[in-house]
Amino acid sequence: MSEPQPRHQLTRMITAYWTSRAIYVAAKLRVADHLADGPRSAEELAAAAGVAPRPLYRVLRALAGVGIFAREADGRFRLNPLAEPLREDGPESIWAYAVAYGEEMYRCWDGVPETVRTGEPAFDRMCGRPFFAYLGEHPEQARIFDGAMAGSSGRAMEAMLDAYDLSGVGTLAGGGGGGGSNLARALGRYPAMRGVLFDLPHVVGRARPRLEAAGVAGRCAVEAGASSRLPQVAPMLICSAASSMTGMTRRPAGSWPTSGVRCRPGRDSWPSSTSSRLATACRSASCSTST
Ligand SMILES: C[S@@+](CC[C@H](N)C(=O)[O-])C[C@H]1O[C@@H](n2cnc3c(N)ncnc32)[C@H](O)[C@@H]1O
Repeated sequence: MSEPQPRHQLTRMITAYWTSRAIYVAAKLRVADHLADGPRSAEELAAAAGVAPRPLYRVLRALAGVGIFAREADGRFRLNPLAEPLREDGPESIWAYAVAYGEEMYRCWDGVPETVRTGEPAFDRMCGRPFFAYLGEHPEQARIFDGAMAGSSGRAMEAMLDAYDLSGVGTLAGGGGGGGSNLARALGRYPAMRGVLFDLPHVVGRARPRLEAAGVAGRCAVEAGASSRLPQVAPMLICSAASSMTGMTRRPAGSWPTSGVRCRPGRDSWPSSTSSRLATACRSASCSTST
């Protein structure tokens, strides 16, 4: 007797974390990078990663079963389209995303039942402080998170830039702009545009090399601060599609890029020193403020 479809679907959903965890293990061990030069056996991969071959084989076989990595007839594993983005440095890499979402953020799901009961954020309780404060004290995790954001939101940013004409924008400010990759994409498309990258001090401290690599550092001011609200002072403020701060600035489709920045109702005053520093940075980047 065939199983009813909803039960089957639900069963797969219940065990979906098996796949998620196996992807994390493969990313953490850099299996995709170890396969960059061609197929390898589980024994060879285990030796390269310094782990036990049999459990690694079982993890990779499970992944191959859902189409991530492929198994050759001789049992060796090779890269395939779903495994390719797990390489650390490829143009489409989401390696950092796989690692970042597999560590603290994954473990915090254990706390969600308690969060539902109390309303308290699981991350704060389980890791001792809010997420971004935690990253401020854990440089390696913060670096991986920056990479995760850069790797995951780039396509959305490209789509936004395709969809909207920013040629009238003198200066674009990236609020909660992370390592600056999205701002750099915009500046790359508009050679006369200037930028202001705004984020937490430890984040913007890592941004300069990325802006330089993109060839836009000379046109982009970097401002460090911690805001609870995004300011109205910038002529254009983006957080990117993937930003947790996007909700502060999300605008109806069609109005996002051309009419300046408005904070959401109730968030229209931001009298902090951070705001005025960002305003100064915008002015010295020779922007004409439109808000
Ligand atoms: C989800 S990430 C998005 C990063 C970037 N916009 C992107 O899409 O790649 C949110 C960003 O907001 C920044 N952020 C969080 N709290 C902040 C605060 N209080 N003030 C300024 N930036 C903050 C974080 O450091 C992080 O870079």
